[in-house]
Amino acid sequence: MKIFLDTANLDEIRQGTSLGVLDGVTTNPSLVAKEKRPFREHVLEICRIFEERGIHAAISAEVVSTDTEGMLREGRELASWHKSIVVKCPTTPDGIRACTILTREGIRVNMTLVFSASQALLVAKAGAYFVSPFVGRLDDISADGLQLVREIVEIYRNYNFPTEVLAASLRGPLHVAEAARIGAHIGTMPFKVFEQLFKHPLTDRGLEAFLKDWEKARATLGDILAPAKAAR
Ligand code: G3P
Repeated sequence: MKIFLDTANLDEIRQGTSLGVLDGVTTNPSLVAKEKRPFREHVLEICRIFEERGIHAAISAEVVSTDTEGMLREGRELASWHKSIVVKCPTTPDGIRACTILTREGIRVNMTLVFSASQALLVAKAGAYFVSPFVGRLDDISADGLQLVREIVEIYRNYNFPTEVLAASLRGPLHVAEAARIGAHIGTMPFKVFEQLFKHPLTDRGLEAFLKDWEKARATLGDILAPAKAAR
């Protein structure tokens, strides 16, 4: 499964890419607004961070128009900024119309704010590159967000739709692991959730014990780097 960060924060993106396990970023107007910087400059900076590390990333940037014509104008503009940019459109009738047209023009579209399997079916038929079901927001209203991801993966497999399932609004490591078990192509998550993916108390406790034992026997064991130094 590809791992995306759901953030527009450059420090978080830099830290994430340094680990070599990130495949992209999803932004939305709320996340971008928090950074208080010119949008174009900011999105291009995100693209550059991945480029510098030689990662072929997908960076989602969202339109803010609500009518098809406006989405087309903004979508074409966003896609012209950088080859990594995937245009994000809301799953409304206007958004689906825009997706159909942008896709025919060769522009990759991420259809966002998907909350039902029927919406996901339509966006696949419109040629979306990514479909973004919002897991956490469904859980928030006592629905089963992961069940939606399951249904979408099943429908897309039934008909061999090439649209990739991007599980969004993931709120914890269990959401991420379950989305991967289901077969979502991508999981996007806030930096805090990304950090939680690494954490396990037994890893920390185990490492502590290894290092204590090493320290006790240090005089006999020597230094791992010592032979290299002596060889110089
Ligand atoms: O980027 C869209 C989505 O992932 C939002 O997540 O946590 O605001 O529901 P959240």
